[in-house]
Amino acid sequence: MADQYEDLQQSYGRCLRDKRFIERFYDAFVASHPAIAPLFKDTDMGRQRLALRRGISVAIFHAAGSPLSKRATEEMADVHSLRGRAPVDPALYPYWIDSMVMVIAQTDPEADEALMTRWRKAMTVVCDTFTARYRAE
Ligand code: HEM
Repeated sequence: MADQYEDLQQSYGRCLRDKRFIERFYDAFVASHPAIAPLFKDTDMGRQRLALRRGISVAIFHAAGSPLSKRATEEMADVHSLRGRAPVDPALYPYWIDSMVMVIAQTDPEADEALMTRWRKAMTVVCDTFTARYRAE
């Protein structure tokens, strides 16, 4: 059976106990590359934080190969594709992953190297899916 990434769901739950977790992720993400802040210049960050909060959960299910997350993952990929509402240059995904892994490591009291390697692996799966759909019709 495929890896269900239950340890990541639990780690994510511990991160969300910190009410500023998503906010701190965006601070780190924006600081990680000068191209990122302009992309969010017209964004309602309150709504965006809620959208990402759900998006990360979808991403974990997607990495685990759950068919239930297929549609939600495709919708997110389409938003970030070349024809989408918020196109994202695939070259920026490593900054997203690095920022996410760093903030999780700072937030989850049970974070260790092995867990962070698994987070990186799972978030790479979703970013690779977005990249594959970047130029798709
Ligand atoms: C380099 C990486 C990324 C950048 C620069 C980026 C940027 C953006 C921008 C600019 C928006 C639109 C905000 C608006 O409506 O004004 C957005 C929406 C969104 N992003 Fe990303 N994003 C990235 C990666 C991701 C990843 C990896 C996920 C999921 C795990 C994700 C999930 C979402 C979701 C759920 C929305 C809301 C979509 C909606 O409103 O329908 N993003 N993103």
